[in-house]
Amino acid sequence: MHIHKPDFAKLRLDFPMLRKTMHGHPLIYFDSAATAQKPQSVIDVITDFYTNHYGTVHRAVYELATYATHEYQLARTKVQAFINAEDAEEIIFTRGTTDAINLVANSFGRAFIKAGDEVLISAMEHHANIVPWQFVCDQFGATLKVIPVNEQGELLIDDYKQLLSDKTKIVAVTHVSNALGTINPIKELARLAHDAGAKILVDGAQGAPHMPLDVRDLDVDFYAFSGHKLCGPTGVGVLYGKRDLLEIMPPYQGGGDMIDTVTFIKTTYNDLPLKFEAGTPMIAEVLGLGAAIDYLTGIGLSEIERYEHSLLLHATEKLQSIPGLTVVGNAPKKGAIISFTMEGIHPLDLGTMLDLKGVAIRTGRHCAQPILELYNIPATARASLAFYNTKTEIDAFAKILLEIIALLRG
Ligand SMILES: Cc1ncc(COP(=O)(O)O)c(C=O)c1O
Repeated sequence: MHIHKPDFAKLRLDFPMLRKTMHGHPLIYFDSAATAQKPQSVIDVITDFYTNHYGTVHRAVYELATYATHEYQLARTKVQAFINAEDAEEIIFTRGTTDAINLVANSFGRAFIKAGDEVLISAMEHHANIVPWQFVCDQFGATLKVIPVNEQGELLIDDYKQLLSDKTKIVAVTHVSNALGTINPIKELARLAHDAGAKILVDGAQGAPHMPLDVRDLDVDFYAFSGHKLCGPTGVGVLYGKRDLLEIMPPYQGGGDMIDTVTFIKTTYNDLPLKFEAGTPMIAEVLGLGAAIDYLTGIGLSEIERYEHSLLLHATEKLQSIPGLTVVGNAPKKGAIISFTMEGIHPLDLGTMLDLKGVAIRTGRHCAQPILELYNIPATARASLAFYNTKTEIDAFAKILLEIIALLRG
């Protein structure tokens, strides 16, 4: 039997940005949770579209528009296969995760959330999965409830069960925490939500790029993710929704493409998925996302998951051996995200010094202020890894960290 084993050191060469130097040092890019670098194949698809094929989608009969429409729809079927959705019409293109969550909060909110209802989120959510729900709760007189986490950064499932009730209309949780790395047990959370009669939305911004996905097996009602974290372009993302729900939800935005007929008296709406895609969409970005999905599935998401896990173990071991360094978030199931603090050194100083050595990491609150407040930490440094990183980079990072600490501590 042929066993597919990607050569990750070689794959790295597909990424032009990873050949760059920063301040005279080889770039060590450890900020993939913020945004991922792009392989040449994604860049080429976008360039080729603008250079050789550019035209609009949906509206015209000429050759260029037919080509663009075909490629646009093809990308939709690539997304469908990528997450194992039943139907391509369940895939809505959005501007990103934030836009997808806002779409659901608005549309689902208008259709189903009334005064006295409850929306359940978790304590480790990104602001993108907090604020839209606060808007909805304010607008309709519902209450936002929060599932707590333990010291290690895991959701407290017993508390979740207690919080669920017939008032709960929707549970909105992250697949993987961008601040702690925790991978949440989505299938179990979905089952419990459904048992209580609630729907579940999963923020998959940090999930989709890093593991095989099967929305039908997870049995989630909505799953949102961003193209740019998946080696695709910025400005494009995906909302998956179960067809029966999307069918009965009202449109989010009004405009061209989302309508069937328009008069000044009454407008009827287009079918799925166009009902939720008002206006000229981000055509080049959707094509780029399709290329990114081809690229990742060519490697294999299981292989990516396995390799990134080995990077996580290596990095955790290296970092934990540094005196004064504390890893924030130690859930047994983690993605390749390591948040940490360093005794006596502000994360911002650390980030600035690391940059001078060519290392790009994120510092701050990671758009997840409530969870850091819970741990009583104003900010962390965060190294987030991807399949194009190597153990050699991690070793170099640890060495540079030690040098900086020695320098800053005098
Ligand atoms: C967990 C999580 N949710 C949502 C988002 C928002 O994604 P975007 O800014 O691409 O809409 C991010 C991005 O940092 C994230 O990490």
